[in-house]
Amino acid sequence: MTTPLRDVLPQQARSARLVGLGSWLPPRQVTNAELCARLDTSDEWIRTRIGIATRHVADPATATSDMAVEAGMRAMKSAGVEHVDAVVLATATPDHPVPGTAPAVAHRLGLGHVPAFDVGAGCSGFVYATTVASALIRAGTARSILVVGAETMSAIVDPADRTTAPIFGDGAGAVVLREARAGEPGTFGPVAWGSAGEHAAAICIPEGGSRRPSHAGDAPRGYVHMEGNLVLRHAVRQMAHAVRDAAAAAGWDLRDIDRLIVHQANARISAGVADALGLPAERVPSNITDVGNTSAASIPLLLASAAAEGRLTAGQRVMVAAFGAGFTWAATTLVWPADLRPLT
Ligand code: COA
Repeated sequence: MTTPLRDVLPQQARSARLVGLGSWLPPRQVTNAELCARLDTSDEWIRTRIGIATRHVADPATATSDMAVEAGMRAMKSAGVEHVDAVVLATATPDHPVPGTAPAVAHRLGLGHVPAFDVGAGCSGFVYATTVASALIRAGTARSILVVGAETMSAIVDPADRTTAPIFGDGAGAVVLREARAGEPGTFGPVAWGSAGEHAAAICIPEGGSRRPSHAGDAPRGYVHMEGNLVLRHAVRQMAHAVRDAAAAAGWDLRDIDRLIVHQANARISAGVADALGLPAERVPSNITDVGNTSAASIPLLLASAAAEGRLTAGQRVMVAAFGAGFTWAATTLVWPADLRPLT
């Protein structure tokens, strides 16, 4: 047993390092052609306005915890560990409103009675969850944490709504964070994050919560409602701001950013953020064409696919930025570590 860093280093000299990365996508793919057969839309509209060709969709028997366990297992294997001190799950689509989904994930991963909880921050959820996990590690509360982003968006998207059905997909990604010396490759830098609750209705499931319980009177639908164009405009502006703030806090010039990992909401959003920051397209990896918007799973899925394809390599300065329901947003930095082997 090594000595915990909390016993040998002051808090400001400690950080959380990315040591494992895994992802899982349900095998079934739904192409634009399949959507066009039942919706008033076209392959061309979806490709040009959103940038998606196909998305993965879970079968009805698969819930968020099932995908979270798959991704979590791979992340732990990638890290070469069989145990972590805690599990944090970012999701907007928990298995049930009560209880949280993370304890079931921890149980099924064989982690015993470790602390486990969900973080709900929409599509920013994974960056929020890594921020919370990093802070717990810096504080010495835990030495290693599994952070998962997992979503079954198909459970909350109205299949007859052409403004949401083409956008979203299902999947899960996960990382293992472990205590490390601040400044080591793979450690997360300062976060720039925030929220704008005045826009809560812009991405919202109106029914099924305490405001309008699902047992109340008229037939509840429980589908997500979205004011897409408002979301799009705020997403570009807020992620660009957050990236500038995170870069400044880390002491990075924007030109130093080798890779911008943007939440995969819409290819036009990613391009808009890159443009606003003056970053060329080749520094902005993307997987939206094949997976769609997977909400809190989006960032770890992109990290895993970009690393597996060799688009994230040792020593690169990586900026991560997300935006989602709430509104919420978050951006943070890391230098890509040399010894990370993603399992996809
Ligand atoms: N197929 C064809 N036409 C469609 C369509 C579809 N699937 N969905 C909407 N349209 C139509 C609209 O009805 C509208 O028609 P009108 O001009 O006759 O009224 C037109 O296309 C433009 O709609 P608008 O909503 O202004 O388009 P947009 O450029 O904003 O693109 C989204 C719509 C949803 C693709 C885009 O706003 C978006 O991606 N927003 C962010 C969504 C997101 O990822 N949110 C999750 C959290 S980040």
